[in-house]
Amino acid sequence: MIRLTRPHIGLPGYVVVALLLAAPAGAQTSSPSDQPTFAKDVAPILQRSCVSCHRAGEMAPMSLQTYEEARPWARSIKARTASHEMPPFHIDKSIGITSFKNDPSLTSDEIATIGRWVDAGAPRGNPADMPAPRQFADTSAWQFKPDIVVKFPAYKVPAAGPDLYGNLYADIPISKDRYIQAVQTRAATPGSRKVVHHALTYAVDSDDKDVSGDDSAGVDGGDFLVEYASGKNAEVYTGDSGVLLQAGKKAMVTYHLHSVGEETDAMIEVAMKLFPEGYVPKHIRWSKQLAQPTSDIDIPGGTVARIDGYVVMHKAARILSFQPHMHIRGKRQCLELIYPTGGASAKTEMISCTNFSYNWHLNYTYNDDAAPLIPAGTMLHVITWHDNSPSNRANPDPKNWVGDGQRTIDEMGFAWIGWYDMTDEEYKAELETRKAERAKKANTTQQQQQ
Ligand code: HEC
Repeated sequence: MIRLTRPHIGLPGYVVVALLLAAPAGAQTSSPSDQPTFAKDVAPILQRSCVSCHRAGEMAPMSLQTYEEARPWARSIKARTASHEMPPFHIDKSIGITSFKNDPSLTSDEIATIGRWVDAGAPRGNPADMPAPRQFADTSAWQFKPDIVVKFPAYKVPAAGPDLYGNLYADIPISKDRYIQAVQTRAATPGSRKVVHHALTYAVDSDDKDVSGDDSAGVDGGDFLVEYASGKNAEVYTGDSGVLLQAGKKAMVTYHLHSVGEETDAMIEVAMKLFPEGYVPKHIRWSKQLAQPTSDIDIPGGTVARIDGYVVMHKAARILSFQPHMHIRGKRQCLELIYPTGGASAKTEMISCTNFSYNWHLNYTYNDDAAPLIPAGTMLHVITWHDNSPSNRANPDPKNWVGDGQRTIDEMGFAWIGWYDMTDEEYKAELETRKAERAKKANTTQQQQQ
């Protein structure tokens, strides 16, 4: 689904101006949204954008469904929405591409409304204004009709203890290579939904091949299939593109589980909808860990460090998605394109920067009309910052040196990139289509402004 960032109002500019002038003086100050109340203005925002996680039995630490529940968190709600930490979507919209699929971000008006509500003492307002409580579909349901379901063995999470990391394996019930059209991971029981923090699924050659922390992971190790964190939906590949699932591989899930006060079975399942046997989609969608750091990670205690990684894309491509990977010192990552013009005419373009928190392994999928089209030979440059200072709230020990490694307290810095390759002809054709679309859009806007 394509979201329009700016809906066309369809009114010529002068009509809008005329309407504003016709509004009675003082209308601004007496407008109800100037003194927002919980019931009328804030509850509808929380219902739409927050309570999917912030309600009993879901992943967030507190419920925000009623006034009584939300009121004690008012200051924190203001802070977390103003900083764009909540709802979680941490891409920096002041840089590069700003148009993403399934972007849950609040509008700046909504953020301002919440701010004014808090500044005014977080009033309840008239309970009659409260929206009807939101109904939730069964969270255990698949979002498409699966062709295969891979069930990983149950893992017993003790009532208390440190977070658990590791891998589980299961067979993939196919006898011939197939292409994945849609894929979804779920924690299969209410208990599982509490203990599964995140889970990454790969197709691997055998049980003993642990690709999760390997430097070459994803490139010649396992093929990454899908990432899961609480609240995550199905991934449906757009258009005629799919992910290759080779027969004879095993499914491996790399899990991060945490204890919740009672012994709980973690049950993770992955469902897939496959293209028919023998069908080859026009494009194969790749998702790999790219641009590993060119030097060792070396972060003295109390400092912020930058590392760089590069990868040359040997074929023309359409970049579909970007997801940074770091551990608890991870702070920010940017993705830059270095075009293959060479020498003095080299051209670079910063396409995405995102803040990072280890709690949130977020994937940013570009909207169809914004996904970068790159010529063969383009270099992806991934810039990663780690904050090993005390100002990083997630830092367990700012006095300690940190280097590369697989433990959560060690660091990594690369990007998951989703893309498909194109021939040079396909690239040229897609570029022309893109230009034509843009020209058409610019034309319509111009006509509207006349
Ligand atoms: C995808 C699930 C999800 C959504 C959607 C979400 N939250 Fe959260 N929220 C969490 C989780 C998990 C945490 C705890 C981890 C963290 O702080 O990142 C959290 C933490 C918070 C905190 C900090 C609590 C504390 O301990 O200080 C606030 C405030 C908050 N959320 C408000 C909101 C608001 C307001 C919205 C909607 C505009 C929202 N959240 C949407 C999952 C979510």
